[in-house]
Amino acid sequence: MRVLAVTSGSKGGTGKSTVLLNVAVTHAYWFKDSHTYPAVFVDLNMDVGSATMLLLGSPTAWRDARSIVDFLQGRLGDPISAFYVKKWSTEDGDIRLVFSPSKPTGGTMYLSLGALRQVLNALERSLNPLAVYVDLPPLSPGHPLEAVFGHVDYVVPVSTPDYPSLEAVHHFVSYVRDRYGASVAKPVLNMFSIDRDIEPVTGEKWAALASRILGEDPHVVPYDELFLVARAALEIEVLKLSPHESPGVRALIGYADYLKILF
Ligand SMILES: Nc1ncnc2c1ncn2[C@@H]1O[C@H](COP(=O)(O)OP(=O)(O)OP(=O)(O)O)[C@@H](O)[C@H]1O
Ligand SMILES: [Mg+2]
Repeated sequence: MRVLAVTSGSKGGTGKSTVLLNVAVTHAYWFKDSHTYPAVFVDLNMDVGSATMLLLGSPTAWRDARSIVDFLQGRLGDPISAFYVKKWSTEDGDIRLVFSPSKPTGGTMYLSLGALRQVLNALERSLNPLAVYVDLPPLSPGHPLEAVFGHVDYVVPVSTPDYPSLEAVHHFVSYVRDRYGASVAKPVLNMFSIDRDIEPVTGEKWAALASRILGEDPHVVPYDELFLVARAALEIEVLKLSPHESPGVRALIGYADYLKILF
């Protein structure tokens, strides 16, 4: 069982939840015949995360849902009872995604390494998934949730083509690599627009700039207006849009393909 966690450093709205959820659903589809529960998605946002809303299928269902937050704050004895199974039927069989929703924590949530280990052990013992995908809010060094990286095999960096976002990802990823020894997956440069592929001050191409700041060529995911349509309908992009019509979905499937070789 591999554990992946997404980060954008301190910058919000770079597409972390979109990238991670689409990758998790794609892996759940690809590995549906070899694993009963291939993918487990843990939403550790301290509010109602966008992935939670899509998985519960309603903007308000979190109110009645159990959450991993309930376990971490001592209101649930068994961590597995904070997980749900989401099922989609396809022509070649069912896709199953196990997930734990987020909910407002009413303040900072403290996360001990021990509690998280307990959750991961319970998941491995009872579901034996291929991978666990941890969605996180924007984080800076010293944030209580950074303890997650003590149990992460791969950090998935997601940035947008702008300097503050690239620098924020670079600083946080370097910090968790040095402090926790986590490996870093190829960074994602999300919401890239081919019409604006040049950084206006230096005249350098964004992909080259990202590569220089992040230390590795990024996986580019274009800005795709169809994502707004999918999101408005509370649909997950890879399940709603065909790769032929959506360059964003094509790029996300390409990234899922890259990540699967790390398993
Ligand atoms: N490649 C893309 N093209 C167009 N829209 C996108 C793309 N990626 C993400 N979005 C949109 O950007 C918005 C923010 O995405 P998302 O919620 O995934 O970001 P986030 O980094 O998880 O945000 P937060 O920091 O609040 O958790 C959403 O409306 C999403 O639909
Ligand atoms: Mg998010």
